[in-house]
Amino acid sequence: MSQTISVISGDGIGPEIMQEAIRVLDALDCGLHYEFVEAGLNALEKHGDLLPGPTLDSIRKNRIALKGPLTTPVGKGFRSINVTLREIFDLYANVRPVLSVPGTRARYENVDIITVRENTEGAYLAADSRISDDGETAESKMVITRNGSERVTRYAFELARSADRSKVTLVHKANILKTVSGMFLDVARDVASEYPDITCEEMIVDATCMKLVMDPQQFDVIVTTNLFGDIISDLCAGLVGGLGMAPGANIGKDAAVFEAVHGSAPDIAGRNIANPCALMLASAQMLSHLGMQDRAQRLHLAITSAISSADRTTPDLGGSGTTGTFTDAIIERID
Ligand SMILES: NC(=O)c1ccc[n+]([C@@H]2O[C@H](COP(=O)([O-])OP(=O)(O)OC[C@H]3O[C@@H](n4cnc5c(N)ncnc54)[C@H](O)[C@@H]3O)[C@@H](O)[C@H]2O)c1
Repeated sequence: MSQTISVISGDGIGPEIMQEAIRVLDALDCGLHYEFVEAGLNALEKHGDLLPGPTLDSIRKNRIALKGPLTTPVGKGFRSINVTLREIFDLYANVRPVLSVPGTRARYENVDIITVRENTEGAYLAADSRISDDGETAESKMVITRNGSERVTRYAFELARSADRSKVTLVHKANILKTVSGMFLDVARDVASEYPDITCEEMIVDATCMKLVMDPQQFDVIVTTNLFGDIISDLCAGLVGGLGMAPGANIGKDAAVFEAVHGSAPDIAGRNIANPCALMLASAQMLSHLGMQDRAQRLHLAITSAISSADRTTPDLGGSGTTGTFTDAIIERID
């Protein structure tokens, strides 16, 4: 198969980990062609634009992008690039799997949770934000729609079915946010009723956080609204050894963007010690999305084997390897 993907190397550690992710994709002989485009601080400095038109055109054309972390400059006038990308391409489902791997600093064994986060609406968007003239009151609007709730919940149940998962947990705060979270829950219940083969449970978001910390193995697939999903998925990343192990896919009808959950890590940029696994695991998600499940599985196995053997791993995993030598160890395990 021949598929061109848009590649955004990103800022900070982005170029270091992207170079290694592409090395493993090439080692897997995926038949991918890469169209390198720019976004983030890098693009702002070169083109005066955080998200230049040619980058958007490339994603529109190829429909698949692999993206390194992007730095959104601090200060007024800069909107989050990730939020903008999700909006432009209507990337409504943010799929964030976490899996505990022996050899990481994971707090638990046998954690295997997929959080599906609504990605295009809700409190996270901070719609119509304003501060009152006297500076005493800040406000922003939270909008939930039937359509947004329906399509993300359906995505979660379809994912559960296709991945042979047995349970989906609907996470909400409908006891207090009766209209907005209430609408999400009502719609999600309706969708759940169409999937009698999958167990559906409902859980309030605060209780979910406690149960995730105390007994994470009880969770399988979680589906929730934007802000809750943002927080819960980072909590889940913490359960399996940190952000260096957490990938994410942003899925829409016409495009999909795959990325590491972590940011550009300016504190370690340029030192060749960043853990490349999150972006490699996002690459595995991309391969599955493209129908290359076998290669995705082989990449997974190579990563888990290198970590379990503590072979040339990066310092965040307790090793003394570099981004490059750790990737060598992974590539040597790709059969
Ligand atoms: N998806 C994205 O593009 C994305 C996500 C989050 C933050 N950001 C941006 O990234 C910048 C830095 O944000 P931050 O410092 O809050 O979060 P961060 O995720 O970049 O870093 C948090 C901590 O985790 C460490 N870390 C992150 N990734 C790592 C890796 N692969 N290997 C080893 N250690 C790793 C960092 O060194 C740092 O100590 C900000 O400009 C923020 O806006 C981008």
